[in-house]
Formats: sequence, structure tokens, C-alpha cells
Amino acid sequence: MLTSRLIKKNSIYRGDSMTNRDLIIRLRQDQILDREEFRQILKGLCPEDEEFLYENAREVREVSYGKDVYTRGLIEFSNYCVRNCLYCGIRAGNPDCERYRLTEDQIQECAETGYDLGFRTFVLQGGEDPFFDDDKFCRIIKRIKDSFPDCAVTMSVGEKSRKSYEAFFDAGADRYLLRHETISPDHYRILHPHGQSIESRKKCLYELKDIGYQVGVGIMIGSPGQTEDHIINDLLFMKEFQPQMVGMGPFIPHEQTPFRDKRAGKLQDVLHILAIVRLMLPEVLLPATTALGTLFPTGRELGIKAGANVVMPNLSPKGVRAKYALYDGKICTGEEAAECIGCLTNRINSTGYHINAARGDCAGFLIKYFVY
Ligand code: 5AD
Ligand code: FES
Repeated sequence: MLTSRLIKKNSIYRGDSMTNRDLIIRLRQDQILDREEFRQILKGLCPEDEEFLYENAREVREVSYGKDVYTRGLIEFSNYCVRNCLYCGIRAGNPDCERYRLTEDQIQECAETGYDLGFRTFVLQGGEDPFFDDDKFCRIIKRIKDSFPDCAVTMSVGEKSRKSYEAFFDAGADRYLLRHETISPDHYRILHPHGQSIESRKKCLYELKDIGYQVGVGIMIGSPGQTEDHIINDLLFMKEFQPQMVGMGPFIPHEQTPFRDKRAGKLQDVLHILAIVRLMLPEVLLPATTALGTLFPTGRELGIKAGANVVMPNLSPKGVRAKYALYDGKICTGEEAAECIGCLTNRINSTGYHINAARGDCAGFLIKYFVY
């Protein structure tokens, strides 16, 4: 009895076989685990351990961000795309996708509506659409930044040259989202056609960081061919890369893609991984994604309770929302921006957290870059 108690007491130190609880405590302390330890907690947790994981994730996020949840206004400006990612509904190879592009004026109007609704970050997200060249993007960024100098602009426009990234940054862009999707080359090849590679993705990410952006990486949970090993590789990559943002949601099939018959990611897996990432990167900006809300009606609320601290409601004009369909069943396609933010405010309040309308930069980022 005594021996077993002693072992339990000391078991948060390396070498002993550890319970999931011990591992969660160690992950919180050290902000990292080794491969086998990650494997153990990814294998599945009993309901008590699960709640313990979420509780720890919430405590850690509250140290940096209190009860605040930041909002980002998503402007989906084009669903034209030259890429052919096998999972994505707006892939070039989907002839049934009804294409649209917003004009520069429409994009500005979305930002104006968003500003009046309290948004202080705008995310320009689109397919890789060559119609939007560097000059157009720079004009769009400058116009938003000139009108709303107190706002951050986040770009989510895919793989570009360093020169383009520098031009956007000089025009005033603050952040860049470029999910790496999977860091494992074998898995990358399952998700993408020939000609797209993780090497080129990584090159972009390191360039973005070097230029001075707050950078977001991310993965889909439960994407076809994804194994525990792949997820562990992704966690270790995130630790090494130290992103300011991590975007993660479930994979959801789209009926007009080659993955139409694949199964969606599991709610529990998404929540576990959100909480693990929170413990690994305490200050990271972590959205409860629209995909999570699509997978499960209260998915975003559960994401917030598992350590997420960002939501990204849609500011795109109502008429185009449904056309920006990366996966089937996307929520919030019929609501005006104002309705969405009202709904989301209630949803966030129900979790015991609340929306903070500030720009919501990554804690520590401004200090690291501008003071030292
Ligand atoms: N299911 C879930 N997420 C998807 N994305 C693209 N297609 C899907 C899908 N079918 C995600 C990708 C991309 C981000 C903009 O949306 O991770 O980086
Ligand atoms: Fe868009 Fe609820 S957040 S309708």
C-alpha cells in the first residue's frame, strides 16, 4: 500500500509508468512530453481524466487571457483556387463549385460593417486566386489599415513568394494564417496532389516568421490517413515552430471532393488536441473553429471550455457564404454578420467566458518583437 502510494506520488518524474493524470500535470509543468507520453494521452482518456485535461487547459489560458475570447471577422473574398487539395470543396478540380470574387469595394464594406459591430481584426481568407495580385492585396490591406488603424489585418491567402509576403507586411498586414495541414511527408502526399509539398509549406512558414508576422499553423483532426504518429509529429512541430496561432478543427468531407466518402474527425479528438496544444503553448491564440461548430451544435462552446480563446465569425456578404464551402454543412451561411455576432456572444457567455473586442494580439508577441 505504502509502496504503491510512493510510486504514485513520485510518478510525475520520468522513468516510472505514469497515469494520464500525471502526464497532464507534467505537460502543464514542462509544456512538452515525449512521443510515447503523447501517444498514451492520445490513446484515449476516461471522462474524469478528460475533464482534468480541460480544467488544466482553462487554468493555463486564464493566466494569459483571463476570461476573454477574441473575435476575428472573416472576409472570404474569393473561392477561386489554383490548388487541388483533395479534402477541399473549392479545389480547382471541382467543376460544380460556383465561383465568386468580391470587389475591393465589397471587401472594404465588409470591414466597415465589421468595425461597427466591434471587430478589431479582419481576416482576409481566400483560395489561391491569381486575380488578386500583390498590388491588389496591398491596396486592400492599406485601405483597411488607413480606415481603421486600431485594427489588425490577418492574411490567409496561401503559399506565396517571400517578396509577396514582404509586400503585404509593408502594406500593414500583421498576421498570417497558413495551416501546415500535416508535417509528415507521407501524410501530406495523401492529402495533396503531386506538386504540393510540405517542404514548400515549411519554407513559407519560416519566411513569414522571419519577416515579423504573427504566424498561424494548424491541422485538420481526423483527416484521411492521419495516424497517432502523424498527430505527434504535428505537436512536436508546433512546439519547435512556436506559432502565435494554431488553427485546428475536424476534417469534414465535402461531397464534391475525392474524400466524399471519408469519415469526419471526432469531436472528442478535436477537444483533446486543443487542450494539449493549450498546455504545450500557453499563450497561443487558439480558435474554436466553424468546422467544430459544424461537426457538433455546441462544438465551439466545448472548444472554448477545452482551452480555445478565439472565435472567427463570418463577415462575408450573405449571398456568397454558402459558396465558400470547404466542407459540407457549414454553419452560419444564412445569417447576417450582426446576427452571427449576437448568436456567438450568447454562446460564449454560456461558457462563463466573454467576448473582448480588442485586437487580441498574442500575449508576449509585441514585447518580444518591439522591446528586446
Ligand atoms: N474539412 C475541414 N477543414 C477543411 N479545410 C479545408 N477543407 C476542409 C475540410 N473538408 C481547412 C484546411 C484549410 C482551412 C482554410 O480549412 O485546414 O487550411
Ligand atoms: Fe453564426 Fe451562430 S455564430 S449563426
